[in-house]
Amino acid sequence: MVQPNSQTLLLLPGDGIGPEVTAEARRVAEIVAPDLALEDGLLGGASYDAHGEPMTAATLARAKECDAILMGAVGGPKWDNVPRDKRPEAGLLGMRKGLDVYANLRPAYCFPALAAASALRTELVEGLDILIVRELTSGVYFGQPKMIETVGGERRAVDTQSYTTGEIRRVAARAFELARGRKRTSGKFPGVLSCEKSNVMETGVLWREEVTRLHKEQYSDVRLDHMLADAAAMHLVKAPKDINVLLADNLFGDILSDEASMLTGSIGMLPSASLGEPGVPGLYEPVHGSAPDIAGKGLANPCAAILSLEMALRWSLNRPEAADRVWKAVDAALSSGARTADLGGNLTTRQMTDAILKHL
Ligand code: IPM
Ligand code: MG
Repeated sequence: MVQPNSQTLLLLPGDGIGPEVTAEARRVAEIVAPDLALEDGLLGGASYDAHGEPMTAATLARAKECDAILMGAVGGPKWDNVPRDKRPEAGLLGMRKGLDVYANLRPAYCFPALAAASALRTELVEGLDILIVRELTSGVYFGQPKMIETVGGERRAVDTQSYTTGEIRRVAARAFELARGRKRTSGKFPGVLSCEKSNVMETGVLWREEVTRLHKEQYSDVRLDHMLADAAAMHLVKAPKDINVLLADNLFGDILSDEASMLTGSIGMLPSASLGEPGVPGLYEPVHGSAPDIAGKGLANPCAAILSLEMALRWSLNRPEAADRVWKAVDAALSSGARTADLGGNLTTRQMTDAILKHL
C-alpha cells in the first residue's frame, strides 16, 4: 500500500483552456491534499511546441511512475496543419494507449442547482445520474489500416474498427462491477445498458455476444440490457433517467458522452476517469475540449477539472474523504448561485473556484 505522503499527481495542463482550468484544480488539491506532491508536464500542442512531439517518451515514462495524472485539454487551430501523428490529439491518444487505461468513466450527473440549465425540461433531468463506461484504447481510434490513399485518381480514406474478445470483456467487466456498486430500482435500464450497432457491424455482433457471455458467467446478479447505439442516442434525450450504466465502444462512447453532457447543464461540468489494471495510474480529464475560442479569457468553467481531481482522489489516490469534500464544495457553490458563462452566469474561472474554495 502506497503511503499517502508519497503520492504524486502529475498535472498535464495541455492547450487552450487546459492550463486555466488545471491551475484551479491545483488550488483545490493544495487545500484538500496538502501532502500530495504535484508535478507538471507537457502534453499536446504545448509538448509539440517545446519538443516537436505531442507526447515525449519521458513524459509517458514519468506518468507511469506517478499515482494519478490530471490532464487539462489538448488541441487548437494553431496545430491544424501539423502531420496527424504529431497533432496534439495524438499525444492524448498516445497517453491513453501507453498507460492502457481502457475503461473511461464519464459520469453525467445533474447537480440539483443546474437542473434548469439543462437542454431538456427540468423534470427529465432532475436526479439524473448516468455513468458512461467508454472503451478507450481500441476500436476505430486505433484499428489498422488507417490511411488516406489514392486509388484510380481519387482519394480514399480508411479507418478500421476492430475489437478482440479480451478488449470487450475487460471493459464490460468494469461496467458490471460499477453497476453492482450503483444499486438502482427505478428506470427501465437499472443495470448495464450495452450499446453497439450489431445490426450493421461485425464488431457490434461480437460486442453483444461477449457482453452477454460474460454476464452469464460472472455478473448475472446485475441487470443487462442491449440497445443499438443510435436508439440509445435517442433514448438519452427522451428518458435519460431510465439509464444507469451505459457501456459503449470508443467511438459511440465519445459521441454519447458529449450528448449526455448537455443533459447536465454544460459540458463544462463533466469530469472523467480512465482506468486500467490495478496498479496503473489513472488518467483524469475533463470531458470538454481545449475551447480555443475562449482560451485565455478567464471564461472557462473549472468544475470539470475540479471534479476530475475529485475522481482522482477517489479512484487512484484512495482519499475518499478529500473527494467528498471537493464534491460537496462544488455542489454548495452551485447551490449558492455561483455560475460561469456556460451556465448562464458571469463568474470568471478564478471566481468560480473561489466560490468553491469558500465551501471547502
Ligand atoms: C474526448 C475527446 C477526444 C476523443 C479527442 C480530443 C481526441 O473528444 O476525450 O472525448 O475523441 O477521445
Ligand atoms: Mg469527445
